Amino acid sequence: MSATFPAAETEVSSSFDQIRQLESNYLLQNYARYPLALHRGKGCYLYDLDGNRYLDLISGIGVNSLGYAHPRITKVIRQQAGLLLHTSNLYYHEYQGRLAERLAKVSGLQRSFFCNSGAEAMEGALKMIRSHGNAKNSGKTEIVTLENSFHGRTLGALSITGQPKYRKDFEPLLPGPRFVPRNDVAALEAAVNEKTGGIVLEFIQGEGGINPISEDFARKARKLADQFDALLVFDEIQCGVGRPGAYFAYQLLDPVLLPDIAIAAKPMACGIPLGVIIANEKAAGTIKSGMHGSTYGGGPLACRVALEFFDILEELLPSINSVGGYFRMRLTELMHTYSFIKEVRGQGLMIGVELEWPCKQFVLDGIKEGLLFNCTHDTVLRFLPPYILTEPDVDRAITTLKKIFKHAALP
Ligand SMILES: Cc1ncc(COP(=O)(O)O)c(C=O)c1O
Repeated sequence: MSATFPAAETEVSSSFDQIRQLESNYLLQNYARYPLALHRGKGCYLYDLDGNRYLDLISGIGVNSLGYAHPRITKVIRQQAGLLLHTSNLYYHEYQGRLAERLAKVSGLQRSFFCNSGAEAMEGALKMIRSHGNAKNSGKTEIVTLENSFHGRTLGALSITGQPKYRKDFEPLLPGPRFVPRNDVAALEAAVNEKTGGIVLEFIQGEGGINPISEDFARKARKLADQFDALLVFDEIQCGVGRPGAYFAYQLLDPVLLPDIAIAAKPMACGIPLGVIIANEKAAGTIKSGMHGSTYGGGPLACRVALEFFDILEELLPSINSVGGYFRMRLTELMHTYSFIKEVRGQGLMIGVELEWPCKQFVLDGIKEGLLFNCTHDTVLRFLPPYILTEPDVDRAITTLKKIFKHAALP
Protein backbone atom coordinates (compact mmCIF):
# COMPACT_ATOMS: atom_id res chain seq x y z
CA MET A 1 0.00 0.00 0.00
CA SER A 2 2.95 2.35 0.24
CA ALA A 3 3.69 5.20 -2.15
CA THR A 4 7.11 6.78 -2.24
CA PHE A 5 7.37 10.53 -2.59
CA PRO A 6 10.41 12.36 -3.95
CA ALA A 7 11.80 14.70 -1.24
CA ALA A 8 10.59 17.87 -3.00
CA GLU A 9 6.99 16.59 -2.95
CA THR A 10 7.03 16.15 0.82
CA GLU A 11 8.48 19.54 1.73
CA VAL A 12 6.30 21.89 3.78
CA SER A 13 6.70 25.49 2.62
CA SER A 14 4.35 27.36 5.00
CA SER A 15 3.71 27.41 8.71
CA PHE A 16 0.25 26.79 10.15
CA ASP A 17 0.00 30.46 11.18
CA GLN A 18 0.90 31.66 7.67
CA ILE A 19 -1.76 29.42 6.14
CA ARG A 20 -4.36 30.61 8.61
CA GLN A 21 -3.45 34.27 8.10
CA LEU A 22 -3.67 34.06 4.31
CA GLU A 23 -7.05 32.38 4.49
CA SER A 24 -8.35 34.93 6.94
CA ASN A 25 -7.23 37.76 4.61
CA TYR A 26 -8.38 36.36 1.28
CA LEU A 27 -11.11 33.72 1.64
CA LEU A 28 -14.82 34.15 2.19
CA GLN A 29 -15.19 33.49 5.87
CA ASN A 30 -17.79 30.74 5.46
CA TYR A 31 -15.87 27.78 6.89
CA ALA A 32 -15.25 27.18 10.59
CA ARG A 33 -12.18 24.98 10.17
CA TYR A 34 -10.66 22.83 12.88
CA PRO A 35 -7.16 23.90 13.96
CA LEU A 36 -5.31 21.43 11.74
CA ALA A 37 -3.45 21.81 8.44
CA LEU A 38 -2.87 18.58 6.54
CA HIS A 39 0.09 17.85 4.36
CA ARG A 40 -0.08 14.27 3.14
CA GLY A 41 -1.68 10.90 3.71
CA LYS A 42 -0.98 7.19 3.40
CA GLY A 43 -3.53 4.43 3.82
CA CYS A 44 -5.99 5.45 6.55
CA TYR A 45 -3.56 7.95 8.05
CA LEU A 46 -3.07 11.68 7.51
CA TYR A 47 -0.05 13.76 8.50
CA ASP A 48 -0.01 17.43 9.47
CA LEU A 49 2.67 20.00 8.61
CA ASP A 50 4.86 18.82 11.48
CA GLY A 51 4.56 15.17 10.53
CA ASN A 52 2.10 14.26 13.32
CA ARG A 53 -0.06 11.28 12.37
CA TYR A 54 -3.87 11.05 12.52
CA LEU A 55 -6.12 8.03 12.01
CA ASP A 56 -8.76 9.34 9.61
CA LEU A 57 -12.32 8.25 10.34
CA ILE A 58 -14.06 10.95 8.28
CA SER A 59 -12.21 10.71 4.93
CA GLY A 60 -12.90 14.25 3.76
CA ILE A 61 -16.63 13.79 4.56
CA GLY A 62 -16.88 10.45 2.84
CA VAL A 63 -14.77 11.21 -0.23
CA ASN A 64 -11.37 9.58 0.29
CA SER A 65 -12.86 6.13 -0.05
CA LEU A 66 -9.58 4.31 -0.62
CA GLY A 67 -7.63 6.40 1.84
CA TYR A 68 -4.50 8.21 0.75
CA ALA A 69 -1.87 7.47 -1.88
CA HIS A 70 -3.55 4.18 -2.79
CA PRO A 71 -0.99 2.65 -5.18
CA ARG A 72 -3.51 1.68 -7.87
CA ILE A 73 -5.28 5.06 -7.79
CA THR A 74 -1.99 6.97 -7.71
CA LYS A 75 -0.74 4.99 -10.69
CA VAL A 76 -3.86 5.65 -12.77
CA ILE A 77 -3.81 9.37 -11.93
CA ARG A 78 -0.15 9.66 -12.91
CA GLN A 79 -0.72 7.78 -16.17
CA GLN A 80 -3.80 9.75 -17.16
CA ALA A 81 -2.21 13.10 -16.19
CA GLY A 82 0.45 12.39 -18.80
CA LEU A 83 -2.16 11.60 -21.46
CA LEU A 84 -5.29 13.73 -21.21
CA LEU A 85 -7.02 15.55 -18.36
CA HIS A 86 -9.98 17.22 -20.04
CA THR A 87 -11.85 16.95 -23.30
CA SER A 88 -15.17 18.79 -22.59
CA ASN A 89 -18.29 16.99 -23.71
CA LEU A 90 -17.80 18.14 -27.30
CA TYR A 91 -15.79 14.96 -27.93
CA TYR A 92 -15.68 11.31 -26.97
CA HIS A 93 -13.03 9.66 -24.84
CA GLU A 94 -12.53 6.04 -23.78
CA TYR A 95 -13.74 6.13 -20.20
CA GLN A 96 -17.12 7.88 -19.87
CA GLY A 97 -19.15 5.17 -21.62
CA ARG A 98 -17.27 2.43 -19.81
CA LEU A 99 -18.02 4.02 -16.45
CA ALA A 100 -21.69 4.47 -17.37
CA GLU A 101 -21.86 0.78 -18.35
CA ARG A 102 -20.31 -0.16 -15.01
CA LEU A 103 -22.80 2.02 -13.13
CA ALA A 104 -25.71 0.50 -15.03
CA LYS A 105 -24.53 -2.98 -14.01
CA VAL A 106 -24.12 -2.15 -10.32
CA SER A 107 -27.14 0.16 -9.92
CA GLY A 108 -29.85 -1.49 -12.01
CA LEU A 109 -30.46 1.89 -13.70
CA GLN A 110 -29.59 2.25 -17.35
CA ARG A 111 -28.28 5.76 -18.14
CA SER A 112 -25.81 8.13 -16.52
CA PHE A 113 -25.04 11.83 -16.63
CA PHE A 114 -21.73 12.93 -15.13
CA CYS A 115 -21.03 16.16 -13.27
CA ASN A 116 -18.65 17.36 -10.57
CA SER A 117 -20.32 17.38 -7.17
CA GLY A 118 -23.27 16.19 -5.16
CA ALA A 119 -25.18 19.45 -5.38
CA GLU A 120 -24.70 19.54 -9.15
CA ALA A 121 -26.11 16.02 -9.42
CA MET A 122 -29.07 17.13 -7.28
CA GLU A 123 -29.66 20.13 -9.55
CA GLY A 124 -29.78 17.86 -12.59
CA ALA A 125 -32.23 15.52 -10.84
CA LEU A 126 -34.43 18.52 -9.97
CA LYS A 127 -34.45 19.53 -13.64
CA MET A 128 -35.52 15.99 -14.55
CA ILE A 129 -38.36 16.17 -12.03
CA ARG A 130 -39.44 19.56 -13.42
CA SER A 131 -39.23 18.40 -17.02
CA HIS A 132 -41.18 15.24 -16.17
CA GLY A 133 -43.88 17.23 -14.36
CA ASN A 134 -44.16 19.86 -17.09
CA ALA A 135 -44.61 17.19 -19.72
CA LYS A 136 -47.69 15.98 -17.81
CA ASN A 137 -49.26 19.31 -16.79
CA SER A 138 -48.09 22.74 -15.73
CA GLY A 139 -49.06 22.30 -12.05
CA LYS A 140 -47.09 19.09 -11.48
CA THR A 141 -44.18 20.85 -9.79
CA GLU A 142 -44.31 19.81 -6.15
CA ILE A 143 -41.46 17.84 -4.62
CA VAL A 144 -41.93 15.75 -1.52
CA THR A 145 -38.87 15.35 0.65
CA LEU A 146 -37.91 14.87 4.28
CA GLU A 147 -37.56 17.08 7.30
CA ASN A 148 -33.98 17.09 8.51
CA SER A 149 -32.67 16.19 5.05
CA PHE A 150 -29.55 17.58 3.38
CA HIS A 151 -29.20 17.76 -0.41
CA GLY A 152 -26.54 20.41 -1.03
CA ARG A 153 -25.87 24.15 -1.02
CA THR A 154 -27.03 25.33 -4.45
CA LEU A 155 -30.39 27.10 -4.60
CA GLY A 156 -32.32 24.13 -6.00
CA ALA A 157 -30.76 21.63 -3.62
CA LEU A 158 -31.32 24.03 -0.69
CA SER A 159 -34.97 24.35 -1.68
CA ILE A 160 -35.54 20.69 -0.83
CA THR A 161 -33.19 20.58 2.17
CA GLY A 162 -35.40 20.21 5.23
CA GLN A 163 -33.31 22.20 7.68
CA PRO A 164 -34.25 25.88 8.19
CA LYS A 165 -30.72 26.82 9.35
CA TYR A 166 -29.36 26.24 5.84
CA ARG A 167 -32.29 27.85 4.04
CA LYS A 168 -33.21 30.92 6.06
CA ASP A 169 -30.75 33.44 4.55
CA PHE A 170 -31.62 32.56 0.96
CA GLU A 171 -35.41 32.70 0.80
CA PRO A 172 -37.31 32.79 -1.46
CA LEU A 173 -36.20 29.42 -2.75
CA LEU A 174 -37.83 27.19 -5.36
CA PRO A 175 -41.57 26.93 -4.73
CA GLY A 176 -43.25 23.59 -4.19
CA PRO A 177 -41.30 21.49 -1.66
CA ARG A 178 -43.33 19.58 0.94
CA PHE A 179 -41.36 18.30 3.92
CA VAL A 180 -42.57 15.22 5.77
CA PRO A 181 -41.14 13.64 8.93
CA ARG A 182 -38.86 10.66 8.25
CA ASN A 183 -40.66 7.32 8.46
CA ASP A 184 -44.10 8.90 8.89
CA VAL A 185 -45.94 6.84 6.29
CA ALA A 186 -49.26 8.63 6.88
CA ALA A 187 -47.63 12.05 6.38
CA LEU A 188 -45.99 10.82 3.18
CA GLU A 189 -49.32 9.53 1.93
CA ALA A 190 -50.97 12.87 2.73
CA ALA A 191 -48.24 14.88 0.95
CA VAL A 192 -48.10 13.03 -2.39
CA ASN A 193 -50.79 13.77 -4.94
CA GLU A 194 -51.36 14.60 -8.63
CA LYS A 195 -49.24 17.75 -8.26
CA THR A 196 -46.18 15.79 -7.12
CA GLY A 197 -43.44 15.75 -9.74
CA GLY A 198 -40.91 13.91 -7.59
CA ILE A 199 -40.16 12.34 -4.21
CA VAL A 200 -36.55 12.84 -3.05
CA LEU A 201 -35.13 10.75 -0.21
CA GLU A 202 -31.79 10.04 1.40
CA PHE A 203 -31.94 6.33 2.13
CA ILE A 204 -29.78 7.02 5.18
CA GLN A 205 -29.72 10.68 6.19
CA GLY A 206 -26.07 11.69 6.56
CA GLU A 207 -25.74 15.29 7.65
CA GLY A 208 -29.05 14.92 9.52
CA GLY A 209 -27.44 12.43 11.92
CA ILE A 210 -27.11 8.97 10.26
CA ASN A 211 -30.83 8.17 10.24
CA PRO A 212 -32.06 5.35 8.00
CA ILE A 213 -35.51 5.36 6.43
CA SER A 214 -37.64 2.33 7.21
CA GLU A 215 -38.45 -0.32 4.65
CA ASP A 216 -42.18 0.49 4.95
CA PHE A 217 -41.52 4.15 4.27
CA ALA A 218 -39.28 3.45 1.27
CA ARG A 219 -41.76 0.97 -0.26
CA LYS A 220 -44.66 3.38 0.30
CA ALA A 221 -42.65 6.11 -1.48
CA ARG A 222 -42.18 3.78 -4.48
CA LYS A 223 -45.87 2.91 -4.49
CA LEU A 224 -47.00 6.53 -4.30
CA ALA A 225 -44.53 7.61 -6.99
CA ASP A 226 -46.02 4.94 -9.28
CA GLN A 227 -49.59 5.80 -8.37
CA PHE A 228 -49.19 9.53 -9.07
CA ASP A 229 -46.61 9.25 -11.85
CA ALA A 230 -43.90 11.08 -9.88
CA LEU A 231 -40.16 10.35 -10.15
CA LEU A 232 -38.61 8.66 -7.13
CA VAL A 233 -35.09 9.98 -6.48
CA PHE A 234 -32.68 8.49 -3.97
CA ASP A 235 -29.88 10.83 -2.91
CA GLU A 236 -27.03 8.37 -2.35
CA ILE A 237 -24.34 11.04 -2.25
CA GLN A 238 -23.33 10.23 1.32
CA CYS A 239 -24.89 6.82 1.92
CA GLY A 240 -24.06 5.17 -1.41
CA VAL A 241 -21.32 3.74 -3.62
CA GLY A 242 -20.02 1.08 -1.26
CA ARG A 243 -20.23 2.93 2.03
CA PRO A 244 -23.27 0.98 3.35
CA GLY A 245 -21.63 -2.36 2.44
CA ALA A 246 -23.62 -2.51 -0.81
CA TYR A 247 -23.15 -0.57 -4.02
CA PHE A 248 -26.17 1.54 -3.08
CA ALA A 249 -28.15 1.80 0.15
CA TYR A 250 -31.42 1.01 -1.66
CA GLN A 251 -29.95 -2.43 -2.42
CA LEU A 252 -29.99 -3.25 1.29
CA LEU A 253 -33.68 -4.10 0.94
CA ASP A 254 -34.72 -7.55 -0.18
CA PRO A 255 -36.15 -7.53 -2.77
CA VAL A 256 -34.25 -4.49 -3.97
CA LEU A 257 -36.32 -1.35 -4.35
CA LEU A 258 -35.31 0.60 -7.44
CA PRO A 259 -35.74 4.37 -7.67
CA ASP A 260 -36.22 6.14 -11.01
CA ILE A 261 -33.09 8.19 -10.34
CA ALA A 262 -30.12 7.70 -8.00
CA ILE A 263 -27.56 10.44 -7.52
CA ALA A 264 -24.07 9.82 -6.21
CA ALA A 265 -20.77 11.65 -5.88
CA LYS A 266 -18.40 11.64 -2.91
CA PRO A 267 -16.45 8.34 -2.90
CA MET A 268 -16.58 7.56 -6.60
CA ALA A 269 -13.31 9.05 -7.81
CA CYS A 270 -11.36 8.89 -4.54
CA GLY A 271 -10.92 12.65 -4.18
CA ILE A 272 -11.17 13.76 -7.80
CA PRO A 273 -14.48 15.64 -8.17
CA LEU A 274 -17.14 13.46 -9.84
CA GLY A 275 -20.90 13.35 -9.47
CA VAL A 276 -23.46 11.30 -11.32
CA ILE A 277 -27.16 11.04 -12.03
CA ILE A 278 -28.14 7.45 -12.84
CA ALA A 279 -31.63 7.08 -14.29
CA ASN A 280 -33.99 4.46 -15.66
CA GLU A 281 -35.18 4.92 -19.25
CA LYS A 282 -38.33 6.75 -18.15
CA ALA A 283 -36.45 9.37 -16.12
CA ALA A 284 -33.61 9.62 -18.66
CA GLY A 285 -36.20 10.47 -21.32
CA THR A 286 -36.95 13.77 -19.54
CA ILE A 287 -33.64 15.23 -20.74
CA LYS A 288 -33.38 15.66 -24.48
CA SER A 289 -30.49 16.96 -26.55
CA GLY A 290 -29.31 20.39 -25.38
CA MET A 291 -31.38 20.46 -22.17
CA HIS A 292 -28.53 19.88 -19.73
CA GLY A 293 -24.74 19.76 -19.68
CA SER A 294 -21.48 20.31 -17.83
CA THR A 295 -18.10 21.50 -19.10
CA TYR A 296 -15.99 19.38 -16.76
CA GLY A 297 -18.42 16.54 -16.04
CA GLY A 298 -17.22 13.04 -16.87
CA GLY A 299 -13.71 13.97 -17.90
CA PRO A 300 -11.16 11.25 -18.68
CA LEU A 301 -9.24 11.58 -15.42
CA ALA A 302 -12.26 11.32 -13.12
CA CYS A 303 -13.87 8.52 -15.13
CA ARG A 304 -10.72 6.44 -15.37
CA VAL A 305 -10.07 6.78 -11.64
CA ALA A 306 -13.70 5.81 -10.92
CA LEU A 307 -13.35 2.69 -13.09
CA GLU A 308 -10.29 1.66 -11.09
CA PHE A 309 -12.19 2.47 -7.89
CA PHE A 310 -15.08 0.16 -8.89
CA ASP A 311 -12.63 -2.69 -9.60
CA ILE A 312 -11.21 -2.28 -6.11
CA LEU A 313 -14.63 -1.77 -4.49
CA GLU A 314 -15.85 -5.13 -5.75
CA GLU A 315 -13.11 -6.77 -3.68
CA LEU A 316 -13.70 -4.51 -0.66
CA LEU A 317 -17.48 -4.83 -0.17
CA PRO A 318 -17.29 -7.84 2.22
CA SER A 319 -14.74 -6.11 4.43
CA ILE A 320 -16.77 -2.85 4.49
CA ASN A 321 -19.55 -4.94 6.01
CA SER A 322 -17.43 -6.91 8.44
CA VAL A 323 -15.19 -4.05 9.63
CA GLY A 324 -18.26 -1.77 9.82
CA GLY A 325 -20.07 -4.37 11.94
CA TYR A 326 -17.02 -4.75 14.17
CA PHE A 327 -16.76 -0.96 14.58
CA ARG A 328 -20.45 -0.66 15.55
CA MET A 329 -20.08 -3.57 17.97
CA ARG A 330 -17.07 -1.94 19.67
CA LEU A 331 -18.86 1.42 19.84
CA THR A 332 -21.94 -0.25 21.31
CA GLU A 333 -19.72 -1.75 24.04
CA LEU A 334 -18.74 1.81 24.99
CA MET A 335 -22.39 2.55 25.75
CA HIS A 336 -22.12 0.34 28.85
CA THR A 337 -19.34 2.50 30.29
CA TYR A 338 -20.34 5.96 29.10
CA SER A 339 -23.96 6.75 29.89
CA PHE A 340 -23.90 9.89 27.72
CA ILE A 341 -23.90 7.66 24.61
CA LYS A 342 -27.55 7.29 23.63
CA GLU A 343 -27.38 5.24 20.45
CA VAL A 344 -25.02 3.73 17.90
CA ARG A 345 -26.48 3.42 14.40
CA GLY A 346 -25.50 3.03 10.77
CA GLN A 347 -24.67 0.58 8.00
CA GLY A 348 -21.30 -0.58 6.75
CA LEU A 349 -18.82 2.24 7.24
CA MET A 350 -21.42 4.98 7.75
CA ILE A 351 -21.78 5.22 11.51
CA GLY A 352 -23.33 7.71 13.91
CA VAL A 353 -23.08 7.83 17.69
CA GLU A 354 -25.80 9.92 19.28
CA LEU A 355 -24.70 11.66 22.48
CA GLU A 356 -26.68 13.33 25.18
CA TRP A 357 -24.88 16.63 24.67
CA PRO A 358 -23.07 18.57 21.90
CA CYS A 359 -20.04 16.72 20.63
CA LYS A 360 -17.77 19.41 19.17
CA GLN A 361 -15.33 19.28 22.10
CA PHE A 362 -14.83 15.55 21.50
CA VAL A 363 -13.87 16.29 17.91
CA LEU A 364 -11.26 18.81 19.11
CA ASP A 365 -9.99 16.36 21.73
CA GLY A 366 -9.81 13.71 19.00
CA ILE A 367 -7.52 15.92 16.92
CA LYS A 368 -5.21 16.35 19.91
CA GLU A 369 -5.12 12.57 20.32
CA GLY A 370 -4.52 11.83 16.61
CA LEU A 371 -8.06 10.74 15.68
CA LEU A 372 -10.20 12.50 13.06
CA PHE A 373 -14.00 12.32 12.95
CA ASN A 374 -16.67 14.97 12.99
CA CYS A 375 -19.87 16.00 14.62
CA THR A 376 -23.13 16.40 12.78
CA HIS A 377 -26.48 17.65 13.90
CA ASP A 378 -24.81 18.97 17.04
CA THR A 379 -24.98 15.76 19.06
CA VAL A 380 -23.99 12.98 16.65
CA LEU A 381 -20.40 11.80 16.27
CA ARG A 382 -20.09 10.88 12.60
CA PHE A 383 -17.68 8.25 11.29
CA LEU A 384 -17.22 7.90 7.51
CA PRO A 385 -13.82 6.17 7.36
CA PRO A 386 -12.00 5.03 4.24
CA TYR A 387 -13.18 1.64 2.96
CA ILE A 388 -9.74 0.16 3.62
CA LEU A 389 -10.17 0.47 7.40
CA THR A 390 -9.16 -2.70 9.28
CA GLU A 391 -10.15 -4.18 12.66
CA PRO A 392 -6.78 -3.16 14.23
CA ASP A 393 -7.54 0.42 13.06
CA VAL A 394 -10.91 0.17 14.81
CA ASP A 395 -9.21 -1.09 17.99
CA ARG A 396 -6.86 1.88 17.91
CA ALA A 397 -9.81 4.25 17.40
CA ILE A 398 -11.71 2.73 20.33
CA THR A 399 -8.69 3.05 22.64
CA THR A 400 -8.42 6.72 21.70
CA LEU A 401 -12.17 7.33 22.08
CA LYS A 402 -12.02 5.82 25.58
CA LYS A 403 -9.24 8.24 26.44
CA ILE A 404 -11.28 11.18 25.15
CA PHE A 405 -14.53 10.08 26.79
CA LYS A 406 -12.84 9.52 30.15
CA HIS A 407 -12.44 13.25 30.60
CA ALA A 408 -15.99 14.05 29.60
CA ALA A 409 -18.04 15.98 32.12
CA LEU A 410 -21.50 17.41 31.79
CA PRO A 411 -21.26 20.91 30.27
C1 LIG B 1 -26.90 13.49 1.01
C2 LIG B 1 -26.13 14.62 0.40
N1 LIG B 1 -26.62 15.22 -0.70
C3 LIG B 1 -25.95 16.21 -1.30
C4 LIG B 1 -24.75 16.68 -0.80
C5 LIG B 1 -24.03 17.80 -1.49
O1 LIG B 1 -22.84 17.32 -2.06
P1 LIG B 1 -21.66 18.33 -2.45
O2 LIG B 1 -21.12 18.91 -1.19
O3 LIG B 1 -20.69 17.47 -3.20
O4 LIG B 1 -22.27 19.37 -3.33
C6 LIG B 1 -24.22 16.10 0.35
C7 LIG B 1 -22.97 16.59 0.93
O5 LIG B 1 -22.59 16.31 2.04
C8 LIG B 1 -24.93 15.03 0.97
O6 LIG B 1 -24.47 14.45 2.08
